[in-house]
Amino acid sequence: MRVLILGSGAREHAIALALTADDEQHELIAAPGNAGIARLAELVTIDPGDPGEVAEFALSQGVELVVVGPEAPLLAGVADALRERGVPVFGPGRAAAAIEGSKAFAKRVMAAAGVPTGKAVHVGTAAEAEAALESLGSPYVVKADGLAAGKGVLVTEDREAARAHAAHWLEAGPILVEQHLAGREVSLFFVCDGDRVVPLAPAQDAKRLGDGDTGPNTGGMGAYSPLPWLAQAFGTEAAFVDIVQRSVAEPVVRQLAVEGTPFVGLLYCGLIVHGTDVRVIEFNARFGDPETQVVLPRLRSPFGALLAAAAGGALDRVPPPVFGDEAAVAVVLAGEGYPVSAPPERPLHGLDEAEQLAGVTVLHAATAERGSQVVATGGRVLSVVGTGAGLLTARERAYAGIDRIRLQGGQLRRDIAEGLGQ
Ligand code: GLY
Repeated sequence: MRVLILGSGAREHAIALALTADDEQHELIAAPGNAGIARLAELVTIDPGDPGEVAEFALSQGVELVVVGPEAPLLAGVADALRERGVPVFGPGRAAAAIEGSKAFAKRVMAAAGVPTGKAVHVGTAAEAEAALESLGSPYVVKADGLAAGKGVLVTEDREAARAHAAHWLEAGPILVEQHLAGREVSLFFVCDGDRVVPLAPAQDAKRLGDGDTGPNTGGMGAYSPLPWLAQAFGTEAAFVDIVQRSVAEPVVRQLAVEGTPFVGLLYCGLIVHGTDVRVIEFNARFGDPETQVVLPRLRSPFGALLAAAAGGALDRVPPPVFGDEAAVAVVLAGEGYPVSAPPERPLHGLDEAEQLAGVTVLHAATAERGSQVVATGGRVLSVVGTGAGLLTARERAYAGIDRIRLQGGQLRRDIAEGLGQ
């Protein structure tokens, strides 16, 4: 199959790698890709966020499937433009992608579908925000409605900080003040064909920059899968997945179909688990990063056929995804200054040494080739993924790998998947 992957992160590198693991051989093209993806795919310079350009390119090149990595092209209508021209695409149209693009839209769909989530108040003025902060109480949760590059959500016990965050984002339009939900976070992905949903394996990501969940929010500094504590709480991981499928993914996809905006692509359910209580904190309309880097290495069934079946509205014609028992841990290397300031371009050393280690894969994100030198060009530079029989081995391998890589000013967390046993 001739597949075009849109995006340039370690998530897209993981997607490309999973496609190359299929028995069926695929021809991969990536726009824009990065130095790692370049080893698996032809890189092209079309603008992934331009619906017309992507559709023209896909048609002219005989692309049989487009896989959209990040949310921005989805919200720009890239999937709509492809579908209008008859190109199969794994990714929702702009209207269904609002499940990620507008937190108020997501809350409305959840209410209509009867999906468990926290209380939320949609406010348009400082006075309304103040009343909502008072009624929902501390810790305060204040969210910008639209995409905000990871800066839209504030969780704080400081009322003044909550007020200031609300005032800032109210300048851009209405915001949400939400009930705080205590518990552990889980990311669970569902492949959707507009009607049916099939689950992938659960993962957990680490969103803060520093060890012990301290410091600023980031795009994600690490992830692991499976989640042994989830199996303990629910008897088996499959029991948890089944609850989320029936109480969250199926009702949401059904509701979107009823509203005339069917969801075809990856529904990312961001969940909070407290005991056996499961609630939704957010949805995304695409694969998570870095969770994808630990979910896809565990996939044992064909990936391309799964995505193509979803794009074609025919998930019932492929067997459900199968995952191996082994574990995967991803640790992200970020550049100096991330996420506050744009890191400078700097050389990366030790990539080959890391990749030669058993059970270690280096997935590139913000990298580029300058002659024979690979350089870091941005915030999250790469993910190092360790795989092994259990989380302990996978974790040791991920850290052994990332410790071979040298980047001046590089930042990483040392506590990904720590203390989870074997
Ligand atoms: N890991 C969080 C995200 O992909 O949005």
